[in-house]
Formats: sequence, structure tokens, C-alpha cells
Amino acid sequence: MSKFYSRLALKAFPYTPGEQPSDKKYIKLNSNENPYPPSPSVGKAIQEEIHKLNLYSDPEATVLVKALAEYNNVNEENIFAGNGSDEVLAFAFAAFFAGKAILCPDITYNFYFTFAKYFESEFIEVPLQEDLSVNPNDYNWDNYKKFHPRSQFGGIVLPNPNAPSGIYMNLSEIEKIVRANPDGVVLIDEAYIDFGEETAASLIDKYDNLLIVQTFSKSRSLAGLRIGFAIGNAELIKGIKRMKDSYNSFTVDRLAMYGAVAAIKDDDYFVEMKNRIITTREMVTRKLQNLGFTLTNSKGSFIFMTHRDIPAIYLYEQLKQEGVLVRHYKQPRINNYLRVSIGSEEEMNIFCDIIEKLITEAKV
Ligand SMILES: Cc1ncc(COP(=O)(O)O)c(C=O)c1O
Repeated sequence: MSKFYSRLALKAFPYTPGEQPSDKKYIKLNSNENPYPPSPSVGKAIQEEIHKLNLYSDPEATVLVKALAEYNNVNEENIFAGNGSDEVLAFAFAAFFAGKAILCPDITYNFYFTFAKYFESEFIEVPLQEDLSVNPNDYNWDNYKKFHPRSQFGGIVLPNPNAPSGIYMNLSEIEKIVRANPDGVVLIDEAYIDFGEETAASLIDKYDNLLIVQTFSKSRSLAGLRIGFAIGNAELIKGIKRMKDSYNSFTVDRLAMYGAVAAIKDDDYFVEMKNRIITTREMVTRKLQNLGFTLTNSKGSFIFMTHRDIPAIYLYEQLKQEGVLVRHYKQPRINNYLRVSIGSEEEMNIFCDIIEKLITEAKV
């Protein structure tokens, strides 16, 4: 590493995103991108703003915050909008977890570990259960503090549904965790909540330590626009803004802001597209089960699959050769699984046909 690097750069643990190779055209089922384009109204809204690009965007993202507050049935003071949910998560880490201890599942979205390194949080891994689900009883700081007597508790980070398992925890389980940890912020990352499950946003009035983070990257087909947001108690939102304004006042650009507002307003399109993904997910799940795969009960825009007899790494490599990219993790416990994003129906039929062929060949 360069001698010019700061201490911060030296101790960083950069996240590795899903591969984006350019050697040939792939069916990309490795980054949980939405296979469908965004609502046509997004493009129109962006077009209308283009001639105003000489002006800075609104640092408070007021129009977007208003639209999000209305959509989620909360007040504007309960919303923070940012440049993708990764950025919102980073500000939340900075505001609530920097230098403190956090509890987090051992198998989850890897960026939490990256943030923990960056913000010098003590990252305490809580093992998932044998079936890869979260046990809410495992998330209580009172049971950990005796082993970490010098640590200051920051809170808990949990995606719901979890990634890459896709397993969903219901609201009473979330509430149990929030109630058991009044001295820490419980951050629920709901990146995949729209694919069939219920947000915990309704609980924010009841609990001042609950923070919800969502994204436009998955269910609204806007990964390239970079919009994420947080819903929480006004004091938590102020904390996130405090970090944003210590870093960059204009994180949400003008085009993204108005594009996102247009996406919120086109609710029919949103509902139709997410339902399409859910239907395809269920169809693919049934097909794979019939081929002998075991799948977690994923409520995300992806499936998580394993086969008793055929190694996941073999399937990953064969699929890549056939022009289909999926995600394989090297991490113990899940290194025999593949995470496969739900693509269009056509893409998933191709994927299933290749899998069926590989399974048939393997049995010969
Ligand atoms: C669980 C989870 N949270 C957050 C993100 C980040 O989403 P974005 O920064 O595109 O909003 C992802 C992206 O894959 C994710 O899987």
C-alpha cells in the first residue's frame, strides 16, 4: 500500500461488488438489479430538469422528502433522502455506530463489515440459525455486554429480508429486538421489502431507536439513479443529516431527485413490476425444487439455492460459460449456495433450462 495513505485508507476494507465483466454479453443475475426499465415517467421528469443543471440541487431534497413522507404516511421530519442506500447506511454508521459496538448477523450484506471498519465500530457477529434464519432472541445487548465490558453499545444492523438468504422476519420479531435494545439504534435495512413483505416503518412513532433504510435500486428499477432513504424518529434523521452536511451538502443530484419523485407517483407501474418479479420468483423456486434444489424461503428479488449432490461452484462456473452470471460466496456455511437475482421471465427460463441440462448431465 502506498506510503501516502492515511490511517483511514490503510485500515479500510473495501467492498467487492458483484463482478461486471465486459468480455461478452451476459445474462446478469448477480447484482440483484431489476430486469425491467424504470417507469417511463422517470425519463420525462429527468428531461424537464436537464436545462436546470447549471443550478445546484436542493441540499434538503425537499420535493423528494415530501413525496416519500406522503407515500410512507410519516412526517417530513421522519425522512432522509440520500444518494443510494449505501450512502444512507454510511451516514447512519457515522452518526450512531462510529467507535461503538454493533451486533450484526454473521451471514448478511457484506457492506456492513466494510462500514464497521471505516467507522471503527466493533463488529460483533451473531450467528444465524442452522436454517439461516435470524433468531430475534439472539439480539439483546444485555447478553453481550458482560463479554465486552469496555464497549459502548451502538446498536444492531439487520436487513429484512436478510441478504443473501432472503429470509424475512415478521414485525413482532423486529419489535421484540427494538424493545430489547432501547440504548442502541436498531437499523433495519429494507432494501428488498417491496417484494411481498411488510415494512416496519409503522413502528417508528412507537420507538425512538428504530431506523428503517430503503432503496429505489431494486423494486423501482433505479439502481443507476442512486436513491436511498431512511425513515425514523426526527432526532435520528437529524443525526444522519448532521453527518451528510459534514461530508457533502448536495448528495442527491437534481435529476435523481425529480426522477425519484416521478417513480413514486407512478404507483401502478411499481406494483405491476414488483408483482412480476414475485411471480417469476415463485415460478423459478418451484422449478428448482422439482430439480432437487433446496431453497431458502426468499422474499427478496433473488433466490438462494443449494443442491445436495452438485457443488455450487461447479454450477456457477458452468453457468458463466453459458453466459449467465450468478453470485457464489466463498464464506463458510454458504459456500455451497448460489444467489440468483430474479431476471425477466425470459432470462429465468434460459437460466432454468441451463440448470436442468447441468443436472441431467451430472446424473449421467
Ligand atoms: C441488503 C442491501 N442493502 C443495501 C444495498 C445497497 O443498495 P443501493 O446503494 O443501491 O441503494 C444492497 C444492494 O445490493 C443490499 O443488498
